[in-house]
Amino acid sequence: MKYGRIAGWGKCVPQKIVTNRDLEQTVDTSDEWIVTRTGIRERRIAGEGETTASMSVAAARQALDRAGIQAFDLDLILVATSSPDYLLPPVSSMIQDQLGAQCGAFTLVAGCTGFVYGLATAQQFIAGGAYKNILVIGAEVISRNIDWTDRNTCVLFGDGAGAVVVQASESPTGVLSFVLGSDGSGAEHLIVPGGGVVMPMSQRVVDERAHYIRMNGREVFKFATRVMGKAAVEAIEKSGLTLADIDLVIPHQANERIIELAARQLGLPLDKFFINIDRYGNTSAASIPIALVEAIEQGRCTENSTLVLVGFGAGLTWAAAVVKMGVLEQPRFAMWRTIPGRAKTRARLAMGALSMRAGAFLLPFYTRVTRR
Ligand code: COA
Repeated sequence: MKYGRIAGWGKCVPQKIVTNRDLEQTVDTSDEWIVTRTGIRERRIAGEGETTASMSVAAARQALDRAGIQAFDLDLILVATSSPDYLLPPVSSMIQDQLGAQCGAFTLVAGCTGFVYGLATAQQFIAGGAYKNILVIGAEVISRNIDWTDRNTCVLFGDGAGAVVVQASESPTGVLSFVLGSDGSGAEHLIVPGGGVVMPMSQRVVDERAHYIRMNGREVFKFATRVMGKAAVEAIEKSGLTLADIDLVIPHQANERIIELAARQLGLPLDKFFINIDRYGNTSAASIPIALVEAIEQGRCTENSTLVLVGFGAGLTWAAAVVKMGVLEQPRFAMWRTIPGRAKTRARLAMGALSMRAGAFLLPFYTRVTRR
């Protein structure tokens, strides 16, 4: 089984909405500027107690339910993030524990590109035959790394999490091809300078606000428009398909103008691109999985759809993958999904108890019958 079907998907975004109008109250900006330059109207910001782990777990539970598997069926958990709960331990292990999974887990850092890197990695474990069920998560609470007095960055980002279950399959679905890229010579254009090994956390770091994201927006913009279309074309060529075979492009949601330019470069109409940046802003590694989940929910991505996922981000990095969706709905799990989490646990326990009672009740008959 060399293919990795996307068997389950889920997302979690914080309740709290921060609109452009809200930001007008705190920094020198305007709704008009933000909308025309980026396409963003509002973003979700994590409240107290909401963390990268907690949102990942919520998104992952949905994905597991959709796939019709339990956490203990997982063989590997892979979490793409640049805003883990702690520097140590890895947030992937916290998520593994909170889900009740018994498998390996690791965190992958590739900026906003991380989820596509993660999906390509999961595909390799499945193609090699090592694993059957892999959970891939893209999650961020990037708002805690933002300088809310810096209008160049604070208007752009938002928080959230998206997750998929990649499951071994015989039919040619999942990641058909991928392209991964990195150009570290552009590292300084998107960087958190303080709090790492080069500039450990200190009063100076705090005074210089060096523990927050610093970005050269124009350079990142130029880089993004250079790599997006190119990476998508390379991935499509590698898959043996053509542009005409692509039903939907799910781009990293960083700036609507970047997406429009990529559409022009590819010669595709904009309605072939899924865009939800207006409601979430740039959720970094979570942006592509959240968009994928919403594309499915809105019927833009359907059974057997062929997608291109394409992203770019800090590093600088970029990645694209051609993904074929397989069967989307497992009818026998459809009703089960409508039951809320706690009720589901009770139902599982009740079913367990019932089958034990039934077993105890039937055992004497069984022994009598088999003795004859
Ligand atoms: N509100 C109002 N004005 C703002 C502003 C804000 N939030 N942010 C910047 N400006 C100002 C600038 O200070 C500049 O003023 P000046 O001309 O007096 O110096 C002016 O707007 C134009 O700035 P510029 O950088 O040329 O704008 P832009 O059209 O390039 O848009 C970005 C800025 C950040 C939206 C755009 O460069 C971008 O999206 N870059 C990519 C960022 C990205 O994707 N990062 C994440 C990668 S994963």
